Amino acid sequence: MMRRLAAGNWKMHGTAESLDEVRALASTFPSPKCDILICPPATLLSRMAETAAGTAIAVGAQDCHTSPTGAHTGDISAEMIADAGGAYVIVGHSERRSDHGESNAEIRAKAMAAKSAGLAAIICVGETLQEREDGRTIEIVRGQLGGSIPDGTTGQNTVVAYEPVWAIGTGKVPTLAEIAEVHDDIRKEMIARFGTAAQEIRLLYGGSVKPSNAHEIFGVPNVDGALVGGASLKADDFGMIVAELERA
Ligand code: 13P
Repeated sequence: MMRRLAAGNWKMHGTAESLDEVRALASTFPSPKCDILICPPATLLSRMAETAAGTAIAVGAQDCHTSPTGAHTGDISAEMIADAGGAYVIVGHSERRSDHGESNAEIRAKAMAAKSAGLAAIICVGETLQEREDGRTIEIVRGQLGGSIPDGTTGQNTVVAYEPVWAIGTGKVPTLAEIAEVHDDIRKEMIARFGTAAQEIRLLYGGSVKPSNAHEIFGVPNVDGALVGGASLKADDFGMIVAELERA
């Protein structure tokens, strides 16, 4: 049975004192009915992994390089993330695609690097506002899926996150019908490519998920959890989202 996933992406937020949020979350959810993941900035990864050891909280990174080692100043590899205690890595977040010009091919290579290192890759896709207004959402998402998701994808090594770019950090959320349409299409694309085992690939919705809207979003078919930015920074808010996912 697939376990749903509540994933927090801390982006460029968090210092040593933020580890208290992880301690609080771990004590609130000693044995949760869903998986819980926090992806802190790389500077906190190993300390957070130590803090979360022996709890139900998993830890992951926000990006990785395509190579295991090498002359790449400022980058970290999937192997290093695993060594630091990470179990997941987000790849292809829209902020990486836009701030760093990452292509689908590069994101696919990162997902393959994650797989080689034994990490699960959370591969992000999503349309811009202009693309949605032009009626191209499904076409854009299909293109990103086809280009970014490597062969050999399974529910164990991959999670897909649908994050409409215009919904990230804006408080705007698609209608439930719009989320359902995209998630249904992603599921069909995954099954067409990887067979019925693709039912086990977790599809997360991301973009302004909050305690106030989590319940209705988790009721949408093929939404198997959330990738949460701002509302994952505080254990109280993220805990309410986790609790909604447990009930879904
Ligand atoms: P917000 O939840 O802050 O909108 O961020 C979503 C996101 O980008 C998670 O990866």
